[in-house]
Amino acid sequence: MKILLASSIHSDAIARLEAKHDVARAFGASEQDLEAVIADREVLVFRSGVQISARVMAAAPGLKLLLRAGSGVDNIDMDYVEAHGLELVRIPGPGAKAVAELSFAFMLALARNLLEADQKTRQGVWAKQSLTGYLLTGKTLGIIGAGNIGSRTGSLGSAWGMNVLGCVEFPTQAIEARLAQQEIRLTSFEDVLRQSDFVSIHVPLQDTTRNLIDAKALALMKPTAYLVNLARGGVVDEQALYEALVEKRLAGAALDVHAHEGNGQISPLASLPNVILTPHIGAGTYDSQREIGEIIVNAVEAYVAKQAEPQAEPSS
Ligand code: MLT
Repeated sequence: MKILLASSIHSDAIARLEAKHDVARAFGASEQDLEAVIADREVLVFRSGVQISARVMAAAPGLKLLLRAGSGVDNIDMDYVEAHGLELVRIPGPGAKAVAELSFAFMLALARNLLEADQKTRQGVWAKQSLTGYLLTGKTLGIIGAGNIGSRTGSLGSAWGMNVLGCVEFPTQAIEARLAQQEIRLTSFEDVLRQSDFVSIHVPLQDTTRNLIDAKALALMKPTAYLVNLARGGVVDEQALYEALVEKRLAGAALDVHAHEGNGQISPLASLPNVILTPHIGAGTYDSQREIGEIIVNAVEAYVAKQAEPQAEPSS
């Protein structure tokens, strides 16, 4: 197969693909560069950080298989994919484990002032008395978007002794029952915001979730609460969050995803001490990326095997 890697994946997977296939790489390429390099490709592998527009896909008449090395599909033109019957394989499972754990790392770091404690200690300031923090145990964790990643984060919360609330866009009794088994109580979006000490966001970016966490939503949160965003930058109104933090209507925030991502981008929140910022590394564990790589190699082989099967005769 002629494969284009538009994003980097685990090196073992690249080596295995290269051993059997014609693999081109264009990591972080612009739309224009992608259009040129994709022209003769049949398979496209991509993560976030690259825009797979209709123009890019239209430049590859032989394109058949799209492998999303992760979860989100906000960076691919899904209308084009559906209209042209392209096969899209998402691989959301392995990254979900890593994202849920990073949510916990963020909550612990915020609750225990870890960044400040580290900085002061390095500077020779022994801030033992002033750096008292909070327990997660006994606190309320609110999950905005209790789906695959969100419910995993919620399960970690209940294992940690937290009282866990969650909300979904379209609640049903079946979802309520499934979440209850994970010790997550399904409630409304507003309730999650009002009651939680820690709010962790796990919704996809789509029309209904763009700026979901706006000034109105932030106003519902407790002034002692912390906000964690590992979903997509566009879900949180960064200006409204900045104002809430400066006016002490929120205790702190941690964001792995940002309205503007990439080299040279500096979030307006970077000037605030009670904020943790990371460069979209939620799914970035060796374990998860190795697992994603294996699934990609297997998906390509399964596709090749399917193509080799004799086609059924059309019934007369
Ligand atoms: C995802 O949607 O799976 C994450 O954003 C990970 C990524 O693609 O970088």
